[in-house]
Amino acid sequence: MELTIAIAKGRLQAEALDLLTRAGLGLSSDTLSSRRLAIEDESGRYRLIFVKPADVPIYVEHGIADCGVVGRDVLLESDADLLQPLSLNIGACRIVVAARNDAPVRQLGMLRVATKYPRIAARHFGARGVAVDLIELSGSVELAAVLGLADCIVDLVETGKTLEENGLSIVEVITESAARLVVNRASYQVKAEAVSQFIKSIDDTLRRRTSGDRNHR
Ligand code: PRP
Repeated sequence: MELTIAIAKGRLQAEALDLLTRAGLGLSSDTLSSRRLAIEDESGRYRLIFVKPADVPIYVEHGIADCGVVGRDVLLESDADLLQPLSLNIGACRIVVAARNDAPVRQLGMLRVATKYPRIAARHFGARGVAVDLIELSGSVELAAVLGLADCIVDLVETGKTLEENGLSIVEVITESAARLVVNRASYQVKAEAVSQFIKSIDDTLRRRTSGDRNHR
């Protein structure tokens, strides 16, 4: 086995596995449908491990995984010192400030902001000189605005369905996000050939898709 690749479980997982398959990794449907958290591809060259998105930078920084596929949103919240050679064309979403459609304009006191992205939120409001009371949650963040735990939320929006179905709307877009390929600094040197081959195969696959998209227009 040459390389271990950490994949963020959840919203990115299916697209990430599709990309890796198109880049040449042999992943049978049986392997993909199993609940195993570490699998090998058919060539035996690659091991994939499936971890929570926020744990991908940790596994890669510590060298347990040589590479990882994770959202830019997660990287913006992480301290990990990683190489980011490629932005991948998958997992496109936005990080936004959102509030109830009928939210009153707050005039007194600190703005209460619920989020699972405390750093992105602190940076965003800090840059505007707005004092905020950050309420850190782990998920279902929209509920905080719906039920009045917070005046607004900073959260990820992909299709916009969750906001819409909970009576919230976007106040401001903070940043765009998509998946990134991340690489451990030492692996990049010590396993230079395997890592650069892997990066090239992903890059070629992305380019094929882009030119395929153009040809279909
Ligand atoms: C994310 C995000 C929103 C939702 C947005 O949550 O926090 O709740 O997806 O997607 P949409 O715009 O396509 O509706 P996730 O599914 O990761 O679960 P969580 O609430 O447990 O964090």
